[in-house]
Amino acid sequence: MTLQIKSLDEYKQAYKKSIEDPETFWADQAKTFEWFEPWSSVLNFKMENSSFKWFEGGKLNITVNCLDRHLSTRGDKTALIWEANDESRESVKLTYKELLAKVCQCSNALKELGIKKGDRVVFYMPMVVELAIGVLACARIGAIHSVVFAGFSANALADRVKDAGAELIICSDFNFRGNKCIEVKSVVDQAISQGCDSVRNVLMYKNSNKDVDFENGRDVWWHDIVDKQLPSCDPEIMDAEDPLFILYTSGSTGKPKGVVHSCAGYMVYTCYSFKNVFQYKENDIYWCTADIGWITGHSYIIYGPLLAGATTMMFEGVPTYPEPDRFWKICKKHSVTQFYTAPTAIRALMAQGDKWVDSIDMPSLQVLGSVGEPINEEAWHWYNDKVGKKRAQVVDTWWQTETGGIMITSIPGVTDSKPTYASYPLPGVQPVLVDPKGNTIEGNNVEGLLCIEYPWPSILRTTYGDHDRCIKTYFSPFPGKYFTGDGARRDEDGRIRVIGRVDDVINVSGHRIGTAEVENAIDEHENVVESAVVGFPHEIKGQGIYAFVISDGNIADKNQFIAEINGIVKEKIGAIARPDKIKLVEGLPKTRSGKIMRRILRLIAADRISDLGDTSTLLNPEVVEKIISEKTEV
Ligand code: WT7
Repeated sequence: MTLQIKSLDEYKQAYKKSIEDPETFWADQAKTFEWFEPWSSVLNFKMENSSFKWFEGGKLNITVNCLDRHLSTRGDKTALIWEANDESRESVKLTYKELLAKVCQCSNALKELGIKKGDRVVFYMPMVVELAIGVLACARIGAIHSVVFAGFSANALADRVKDAGAELIICSDFNFRGNKCIEVKSVVDQAISQGCDSVRNVLMYKNSNKDVDFENGRDVWWHDIVDKQLPSCDPEIMDAEDPLFILYTSGSTGKPKGVVHSCAGYMVYTCYSFKNVFQYKENDIYWCTADIGWITGHSYIIYGPLLAGATTMMFEGVPTYPEPDRFWKICKKHSVTQFYTAPTAIRALMAQGDKWVDSIDMPSLQVLGSVGEPINEEAWHWYNDKVGKKRAQVVDTWWQTETGGIMITSIPGVTDSKPTYASYPLPGVQPVLVDPKGNTIEGNNVEGLLCIEYPWPSILRTTYGDHDRCIKTYFSPFPGKYFTGDGARRDEDGRIRVIGRVDDVINVSGHRIGTAEVENAIDEHENVVESAVVGFPHEIKGQGIYAFVISDGNIADKNQFIAEINGIVKEKIGAIARPDKIKLVEGLPKTRSGKIMRRILRLIAADRISDLGDTSTLLNPEVVEKIISEKTEV
């Protein structure tokens, strides 16, 4: 059985062992899974080359461990519960046996479409059960899945499809969210028309009764090809280090990175972290509200819970539909024991007033997880007091797309929770703080750049198609360490608080947005000369997007110009990247070498003018006053 830490002593022991003898520690975890062939070595690595070989020689299939392995003991246990956007629709429940059959049918359909081991399959889908089924079906036949969040634009989808060289896109016709019915297939059509030459087929799940364009020869209906398949399919035998999936995420440069995770290490780590962080017990009902388009959905809706034999829930809708008590009603309806969401959702619901949550008792709740961004003290207390009614433990979980699983967190019933602190590393994780020169900062009550000193099984392996970029981004800044891009503080007891990104990445509602990506989009407007994008504190979203824009002066109507800029960002990236504020300016503060001084723009955006300090060393100090006095801000 996967280790499940139950006391502070056990935590300390496990942590010590994981540092002194990491190979034995992780081999003990890996042993609990089913392997076609055992590994010959636990770990070989070269941090500076981003080369990690975990469980080399081992052969496995992750879906055997998510599904087949449980049949003898949990075949009739509910694996997946699905709640529709529409409250009046009945929940869908699939047992482990049923889920395996559906996954196999889909695997066989993928094979019929010519998909084989190593091929890339992009998903552009709402939160329907078929998304989870499709992802697992890829893993069963060794195809590499790459899920693109269905809120991204056609342009952003096309970029990812091209980068991955995907042979197949799996989508739905429409997406129901709140009272909206959003087109999905038409976005896929637009994306493909932007030169996605690798795509042979589009597999479309019918999610509505509405008509949709259909291209004979290329498009295939899910119900036509999947439903007729046999419900069994032999799993592909995968090497431990074969890639399992690609997931695109934003970085500080313009182009999103395809983070690659591999089969065995990811399997071992997601199961281990799931069982410990959520203290899952056999009859618990676990719900993570994330979208499967993000890493949280991959690791903690699909893989972690299923590997652990849990009942995992998937929700199609939004927290405020039909009313702001939807989350709590669902928690009550299914007696949810572990609930995992993002601070932005907590703040948004908090802003709706307490009556929605006060009126619903949720005695089943034991663990309340938070992820995606720092949780502020007020939201933390509201979550603890109003949602958990002080009976559940809040765990603030810090991790990243690149880490594959939760790294720093309290453990319910084992380590305490201190508001705004992710707290302690899980055993096997060795965080360090360094100064900008790379010197390790020892002791407590200190701040620095957060790095991880030793590999863990689900560390990213590469960025798809560009290994050098992976090395440069994560392993070159501080040789011998993995650099997270975050700044952090260690308190007097060694707890870690993650403060936020130290690079040009903004965290908007828990979503990573690269400032360069937004600038590139804005600069596409023919009347834009230059732009600079920074983050600023936002009450609900955590951070908002603030764009400073220089126009060429040929603007008749400023409001229309700003609306056009918003439109371009929506078209190039998606609505989530639209600036919250746009300020038209005549110049941007620059250093003598011509670099934009973002520090100054960040202070202006945060309305912290008095902190600006001495700006006289700028190339153009006069511009700062002008920006401050400029009134056009929308
Ligand atoms: C970035 C990673 C991990 C899944 C969702 C986001 C920030 C994440 C926390 C937390 C403070 C956090 C960091 C990190 N972040 N969790 N508990 N406290 N900050 O994954 O999109 O890869 O973003 O989110 O800045 O680097 P992601």
